[in-house]
Amino acid sequence: MALMQWDEAMSVGVEELDAQHKTLIDLINQTYEAIERQDESQLPRLVEKMAAYGETHFASEERFMRESGFADLEEHKFHHARFRSTVDDFRRSVKSRTDLTRIFVFLSRWLAAHIMEEDMRYAPHARGR
Ligand SMILES: [Fe+2]
Repeated sequence: MALMQWDEAMSVGVEELDAQHKTLIDLINQTYEAIERQDESQLPRLVEKMAAYGETHFASEERFMRESGFADLEEHKFHHARFRSTVDDFRRSVKSRTDLTRIFVFLSRWLAAHIMEEDMRYAPHARGR
Protein backbone atom coordinates (compact mmCIF):
# COMPACT_ATOMS: atom_id res chain seq x y z
CA MET A 1 0.00 0.00 0.00
CA ALA A 2 1.15 3.51 -0.75
CA LEU A 3 2.62 5.51 2.11
CA MET A 4 0.35 8.50 1.61
CA GLN A 5 -3.20 8.75 0.40
CA TRP A 6 -5.24 11.69 -0.75
CA ASP A 7 -7.98 12.63 1.67
CA GLU A 8 -11.07 14.88 1.47
CA ALA A 9 -9.39 17.10 4.07
CA MET A 10 -6.87 17.96 1.35
CA SER A 11 -9.53 19.20 -1.05
CA VAL A 12 -9.29 22.84 -2.10
CA GLY A 13 -12.75 22.64 -3.69
CA VAL A 14 -11.57 22.76 -7.31
CA GLU A 15 -11.57 19.40 -9.08
CA GLU A 16 -8.74 20.18 -11.50
CA LEU A 17 -6.46 21.44 -8.71
CA ASP A 18 -7.30 18.51 -6.43
CA ALA A 19 -6.42 16.12 -9.25
CA GLN A 20 -3.05 17.84 -9.66
CA HIS A 21 -2.42 17.74 -5.92
CA LYS A 22 -3.02 13.98 -6.12
CA THR A 23 -0.13 13.72 -8.59
CA LEU A 24 2.09 15.34 -5.97
CA ILE A 25 1.05 12.66 -3.49
CA ASP A 26 1.93 10.05 -6.14
CA LEU A 27 5.32 11.66 -6.43
CA ILE A 28 5.87 11.50 -2.67
CA ASN A 29 4.93 7.80 -2.73
CA GLN A 30 7.20 7.09 -5.69
CA THR A 31 10.10 8.83 -3.91
CA TYR A 32 9.43 6.85 -0.75
CA GLU A 33 9.32 3.58 -2.70
CA ALA A 34 12.62 4.42 -4.42
CA ILE A 35 14.19 5.08 -1.00
CA GLU A 36 12.88 1.75 0.27
CA ARG A 37 14.35 -0.05 -2.73
CA GLN A 38 17.53 2.03 -2.41
CA ASP A 39 17.07 2.81 -6.06
CA GLU A 40 18.99 6.04 -6.54
CA SER A 41 18.70 5.64 -10.32
CA GLN A 42 15.14 7.04 -9.99
CA LEU A 43 16.44 10.43 -8.90
CA PRO A 44 16.67 12.24 -12.28
CA ARG A 45 13.24 10.95 -13.32
CA LEU A 46 11.67 12.12 -10.05
CA VAL A 47 13.26 15.56 -10.30
CA GLU A 48 11.90 15.95 -13.84
CA LYS A 49 8.46 14.89 -12.63
CA MET A 50 8.62 17.53 -9.87
CA ALA A 51 9.53 20.15 -12.45
CA ALA A 52 6.65 19.08 -14.71
CA TYR A 53 4.29 19.14 -11.74
CA GLY A 54 5.31 22.71 -10.91
CA GLU A 55 4.91 23.89 -14.51
CA THR A 56 1.44 22.47 -15.02
CA HIS A 57 -0.03 22.84 -11.59
CA PHE A 58 1.13 26.33 -10.66
CA ALA A 59 -0.09 27.68 -14.00
CA SER A 60 -3.56 26.18 -13.37
CA GLU A 61 -3.68 27.31 -9.77
CA GLU A 62 -2.53 30.85 -10.51
CA ARG A 63 -5.02 31.09 -13.38
CA PHE A 64 -7.80 29.99 -11.04
CA MET A 65 -6.73 32.57 -8.44
CA ARG A 66 -6.56 35.34 -11.03
CA GLU A 67 -9.94 34.51 -12.56
CA SER A 68 -11.65 34.18 -9.19
CA GLY A 69 -10.12 37.39 -7.84
CA PHE A 70 -8.17 35.77 -4.98
CA ALA A 71 -6.53 38.66 -3.14
CA ASP A 72 -3.23 37.02 -2.14
CA LEU A 73 -2.18 35.85 -5.60
CA GLU A 74 1.14 37.71 -5.60
CA GLU A 75 2.21 36.31 -2.24
CA HIS A 76 1.14 32.84 -3.34
CA LYS A 77 3.17 33.14 -6.53
CA PHE A 78 6.21 33.81 -4.39
CA HIS A 79 5.77 30.40 -2.68
CA HIS A 80 5.47 28.74 -6.10
CA ALA A 81 8.65 30.47 -7.25
CA ARG A 82 10.48 29.03 -4.26
CA PHE A 83 9.31 25.53 -5.16
CA ARG A 84 10.64 26.04 -8.69
CA SER A 85 13.98 27.30 -7.48
CA THR A 86 14.36 24.32 -5.10
CA VAL A 87 13.60 21.97 -8.00
CA ASP A 88 16.28 23.79 -10.03
CA ASP A 89 18.72 23.18 -7.15
CA PHE A 90 17.82 19.49 -7.20
CA ARG A 91 18.32 19.45 -10.96
CA ARG A 92 21.79 20.92 -10.62
CA SER A 93 22.74 18.44 -7.89
CA VAL A 94 21.37 15.37 -9.67
CA LYS A 95 24.69 14.71 -11.34
CA SER A 96 26.90 15.31 -8.33
CA ARG A 97 24.83 13.96 -5.46
CA THR A 98 22.16 11.38 -5.11
CA ASP A 99 19.66 12.30 -2.50
CA LEU A 100 16.21 10.80 -2.61
CA THR A 101 15.66 11.54 1.07
CA ARG A 102 16.01 15.30 0.53
CA ILE A 103 13.39 15.14 -2.21
CA PHE A 104 11.09 13.09 -0.02
CA VAL A 105 11.41 15.53 2.89
CA PHE A 106 10.95 18.55 0.61
CA LEU A 107 7.79 17.18 -1.05
CA SER A 108 6.27 16.00 2.23
CA ARG A 109 6.88 19.41 3.79
CA TRP A 110 5.39 21.07 0.70
CA LEU A 111 2.23 19.00 1.13
CA ALA A 112 1.95 19.88 4.82
CA ALA A 113 3.02 23.53 4.68
CA HIS A 114 1.94 24.64 1.23
CA ILE A 115 -1.11 22.61 0.22
CA MET A 116 -2.56 22.24 3.70
CA GLU A 117 -1.81 25.85 4.73
CA GLU A 118 -1.31 28.21 1.80
CA ASP A 119 -3.60 26.52 -0.76
CA MET A 120 -6.31 26.13 1.88
CA ARG A 121 -6.54 29.93 2.01
CA TYR A 122 -8.27 29.96 -1.36
CA ALA A 123 -10.45 26.89 -0.61
CA PRO A 124 -13.29 28.82 1.12
CA HIS A 125 -13.02 31.31 -1.73
CA ALA A 126 -13.44 28.48 -4.28
CA ARG A 127 -16.42 27.02 -2.43
CA GLY A 128 -18.10 30.41 -2.07
CA ARG A 129 -18.21 31.05 -5.80
FE1 LIG B 1 -0.23 26.65 -4.37
